Amino acid sequence: MKKIVITRNINPDIIAKLRKDFEVAVWEEDQKPMPRGKFLEETKDAHAVLTMLSDKIDEEFLANAPDLKIVANLAVGFDNIDLEAAHRHEVVITNTPDVLTETTAELAFTMMLVSARKVLEANKELMAGEWSGWSPYHMAGTDVFGKTVGIFGMGSIGAAFARRLSGFKSNILYHNRSESEAANALGAKLVSFEELLRESDFVLCAAPLTEETKHKFDREAFEQMKESAHFINIGRGAHVVEDDLAEAIKSGKIAGAALDVFENEPIGADHPFIGLDNMTLLPHIGSASVATRNNMMNLCVNNIMEVLNGGTPITPVK
Ligand code: DGY
Repeated sequence: MKKIVITRNINPDIIAKLRKDFEVAVWEEDQKPMPRGKFLEETKDAHAVLTMLSDKIDEEFLANAPDLKIVANLAVGFDNIDLEAAHRHEVVITNTPDVLTETTAELAFTMMLVSARKVLEANKELMAGEWSGWSPYHMAGTDVFGKTVGIFGMGSIGAAFARRLSGFKSNILYHNRSESEAANALGAKLVSFEELLRESDFVLCAAPLTEETKHKFDREAFEQMKESAHFINIGRGAHVVEDDLAEAIKSGKIAGAALDVFENEPIGADHPFIGLDNMTLLPHIGSASVATRNNMMNLCVNNIMEVLNGGTPITPVK
């Protein structure tokens, strides 16, 4: 019987589809990744692995699993995977595009509004019993309506975010490797990275992490942004030089930041962002609606079944 390893405790009803024809080993933890040693041990005779972003798929892992046919990553991003090594070992890599687009764009939009309108600060004050009364500028934030919004990375999530701006009469700018028809149709304008930074009141990072985009948001980038600007990141933490962003927030170089992703996750109490004002920090929940997570799990499982049954993967990473 072919063996499938699932590196986190996912929906048992979805796993049940696999149990009929395959041996399935599940790491029964919800928030803790499978320790590397256990991962290597468990997968050495596996034919398929359903992985999370936190599992590193590299040469060591692939060389250790000679029967492996497919790694189905429960994410649209795949920066945890060495694609060249997978290609060398003839292992198919699949991800979960499309099914999480709207959910992730929705969170990005929420983050922008929350950051602009000081929603978390206001809630914190009230919950602490510290609301001393109404006053004209109390918790006065900034409007999103009518502002310039810059999107770094105009893939499907960037475009879904841009679509949501249509009710806000926004001026939409974007920076991307190439023109996006979907963005152009919304009246968005392709600009240089520098123009995006200079002109935007809100800058959203929705790009995949590559060598080219890594640490793109550094001190120099934050210095070019407006002092009133907010930075929102739903891409990957490593797009940002985190110490530089902490400094930009502390010194008032930019007005606020809302982040769902961090370079090393999870971050702890000693992280430079913790305790800073004007920061909305979320624990990587971009695609976290129950329906979307179930759709992502189903897609991974269907990809695995296709490949192990000799078919074609549904969403291969090229
Ligand atoms: C992704 O799919 O890449 C997300 O970051 C996971 O929620």
